Amino acid sequence: MSKQRVIVVGGGLAGLAATIRIAEAGLPVDLFSMVPVKRSHSVCAQGGINACNEVARQQGYSEYQHFDETIYGGDFLADQPPVLEMANFAPRVIDLLDRMGVPFNRTNEGRRDLRLFGGSLFKRTHFSGATTGQQLMYALDEQVRRYEAEGRVNKYEFWEFLWPVLNEGTDQRCVGIVAQDMRTMQIRAFRGDAVVMATGGCGLVFGKSTNSVMCTGGAAARCYQAGVWYGNPEMVQVHPTAIPGADKCRLMSESARGEGGRVWVPKKKGDTRRPGEIPDSERYYFLEERYPKYGNLVPRDIATREIFDVCVNDGLGVGGERVVYLDLTHKDPEYLTRKLGGILEIYEKFVGEDPRKVPMKIFPAVHYSMGGLWTSYVRGRYNPTEPAHEHKAGMTPPVSSEPGAGLAPGAPGNMMTNIPGLYAFGEVNFAYHGANRLGANALLNCIFDGIFNGVSVVNYVRDEAPSRAPAESLPPNAFNAVVEKEEARMRRLVDAAKPGATDPACNPYLIGKELGDEMTAACTVVKTGPRLEQCLSKLAELQERYSRLQLADSAAWSNQSVSYARAVGDMLVLAEIMARASLLRKESRGAHYRTDYPERNDAEFMRTTVCAFRPGASDRHEIFYREVDAGLVEPRARTYGKSEG
Ligand code: FUM
Repeated sequence: MSKQRVIVVGGGLAGLAATIRIAEAGLPVDLFSMVPVKRSHSVCAQGGINACNEVARQQGYSEYQHFDETIYGGDFLADQPPVLEMANFAPRVIDLLDRMGVPFNRTNEGRRDLRLFGGSLFKRTHFSGATTGQQLMYALDEQVRRYEAEGRVNKYEFWEFLWPVLNEGTDQRCVGIVAQDMRTMQIRAFRGDAVVMATGGCGLVFGKSTNSVMCTGGAAARCYQAGVWYGNPEMVQVHPTAIPGADKCRLMSESARGEGGRVWVPKKKGDTRRPGEIPDSERYYFLEERYPKYGNLVPRDIATREIFDVCVNDGLGVGGERVVYLDLTHKDPEYLTRKLGGILEIYEKFVGEDPRKVPMKIFPAVHYSMGGLWTSYVRGRYNPTEPAHEHKAGMTPPVSSEPGAGLAPGAPGNMMTNIPGLYAFGEVNFAYHGANRLGANALLNCIFDGIFNGVSVVNYVRDEAPSRAPAESLPPNAFNAVVEKEEARMRRLVDAAKPGATDPACNPYLIGKELGDEMTAACTVVKTGPRLEQCLSKLAELQERYSRLQLADSAAWSNQSVSYARAVGDMLVLAEIMARASLLRKESRGAHYRTDYPERNDAEFMRTTVCAFRPGASDRHEIFYREVDAGLVEPRARTYGKSEG
């Protein structure tokens, strides 16, 4: 009997949840992670995870409302069925995590506590203090270790994904990956009957962000260059509240506002008084004044633009700088420690002040990519004998005869990319958040993908197996070809190393720095056509310099420069589609704000941007649009009760 197996790339929440679900169903899993899985970026998630529960329901909230808020929050760019399914499934995700031992905060009555979060007037966010991601990671990690001990999971930590292996010809599908051991630098192929990419976001494209330093988007960019479509690259979230830093920006969770934090600046330009000396009447609580209904809890794209406006256009930033106050000093310090202890410690550690006593100084920072690898979905019921459920590369997923339904549980086409057998889960896919993600929907999206859509992977491997040769029995040619290509790529990088004598223009770290600065300036909070054109010229210059790359390190062991330099090339690819798609989208929607096209234009742009890589073509990025599946909620103006005054 053949030994079918699945490869999961990425050790964050989506990867761990998928590993658990697939191993539980009896398929062996090889789990790859660049870092020890417990250090994956999901560990940095702070504020919480959204789901309706009984307490929320008693206040008039529902799963449907969670769905509606997510669609409205995303400015009607998300396909609606996957979002409906995620919102409906969310309470079960919380129950599962609770059973795994996640220490959710509780009310005095022992119920799981809820807090407010952006884009909602209801408390519907479950949390573990302000270190929710860490608590979830530890719970899932324990489950994965259990399967590891039973021999059902093999972990490959410190291995970097380099390229998917595709079976070509009439049976085109993903049959494995090529990866590199970052200690020995060995490059080798691994066979798998399905591959799940769960590699997170790409904040490093913007240099400084709230992301961890391995969040380059390299894995996604490699899949894109291997033929996977990329959806909505122009949709990048800038979180309104981060601690600006010389090395990186550190998240200061939305939960600070959910627990009553207020954002303000002094009304008087250039006011030099300390915050405690400025009376309430001389403070400008601009979010509360401009959005009386949602106040400090408007969604992230809106809060970010308002902070930007107050600092850059009105010149009211604290001390004339690009910072505003996030103030918790009016709250009971013990309450703050109980609810927000983790982030208060982060602020104290990196700024040296106690936010219980002094307002924090914050500014927006790149945080999340709504765009990502394009994935399909299947509505209705999954019946493996129905030909309608076969996944065809690049085709519209079949829509069932059950209007209003979410996803067909277990259908192999759920969250599969346009390459059969290659899935994308969590932040690396484009599927759930449209043009702006609501806070605390990311943890949900990751675990939902792993648990709900992990079954789709299992069914793809099992139900469709009779018509396909197992990956382990395929001839070695396709695997060897990718290994040789990657070895040649590494040799080119190492051979170009000139210790101590590098041309600064060709230094990968300098190219990465200039890339980040340019993308932050041109392609984040505010965009314009001319600035995006300028950005594309700069990217062309950086690409030319990259083609003459010189490393300073030729070590044959643990050479991190090789890994970073390789990722810089991939980040340049992603940056180009981000800028190109931004230029083509001549409207404003969610996080994508064009001052030259300030209105949303549903007639022309309520469409998913899809990029397809065409190596060898005169224009290697083909960009086209697909209709959004908006059959459940009618688009409406997205005002969040903005005051007219
Ligand atoms: O602000 C936060 O705690 C971040 C949460 C999220 O990105 O979902």
